[in-house]
Amino acid sequence: MARITASVYTSHVPAIGAALDLGKSGDDYWKPLFAGYEPSKAWFKENTPDVIFLVYNDHATAFSLDMIPTFAIGCAAEYKPADEGWGPRPVPTVKGHAELASHIAQSVIQDDFDLTIVNRMDVDHGFTVPLSLICGQVAEWPCPVIPFAVNVVQYPVPSGRRCFNLGRAIRKAVSLYDEPLKVQIWGTGGMSHQLQGPRAGLINREWDNRFLDRLIAEPEKLADTPHLEYVQQAGSEGIELVMWLIARGAMSDLPPRVAHRFYHVPASNTAVGHLILENSQ
Ligand code: DHB
Ligand code: FE
Repeated sequence: MARITASVYTSHVPAIGAALDLGKSGDDYWKPLFAGYEPSKAWFKENTPDVIFLVYNDHATAFSLDMIPTFAIGCAAEYKPADEGWGPRPVPTVKGHAELASHIAQSVIQDDFDLTIVNRMDVDHGFTVPLSLICGQVAEWPCPVIPFAVNVVQYPVPSGRRCFNLGRAIRKAVSLYDEPLKVQIWGTGGMSHQLQGPRAGLINREWDNRFLDRLIAEPEKLADTPHLEYVQQAGSEGIELVMWLIARGAMSDLPPRVAHRFYHVPASNTAVGHLILENSQ
């Protein structure tokens, strides 16, 4: 049987990808940010899974106002880095895991979550930046990755409660897969940031850190946070944090082990938050 061994949470600021790709990670501005991910890279080398299930949001790259699925699961053999205006990032093409993805789609849809099946898609910074941060600058990604895209760009967005329950359904689906795979689930995006309007540049350290505390200790209660609170407290793009609840919902009910926690302000316009939680069984 497959099982979820750990969950990883991280922001996905596109400038982080650009800093790596342009050889600027040693600059004074970026050094403290990348230093916070050194323990994560070491942890990941020791704990490389068979598959990563990566929950992220597309930023009007693969999807657009023409068509916006609330939840979309990638069932393809591979995914290319998207051209977001400056050419595709110089990172490897991502290999998918079509069999496990199709199995999860079957199980989760039968559990009443409506997923869109995606068989062809390029992946943007929401997907490639977390991989770069945790896996480093590599010639090949260390394992297959299943992309799971959540709409947090165009209202209405899914509630935290629905995301948490979807995580539970993903956990069940993984546990029913008939091969002994170690699966990590990653929740990405956030933390507080607002990219436009009079409040552009908003950061809320206190709210973010309380979110991290509660994600660890009382995720079920945290899942009840209404979507307006994310927008009011963490800015319009802070709503990306509901994706972290999918990953947390997929973890065991027992308290997790906190393998790493990091918070850094700013990276571009964003408060960067990062957690690694290991399942205690
Ligand atoms: C920034 C952050 C994001 O999450 C994003 O998708 C785009 C830009 C930023 O801080 O620049
Ligand atoms: Fe984003």
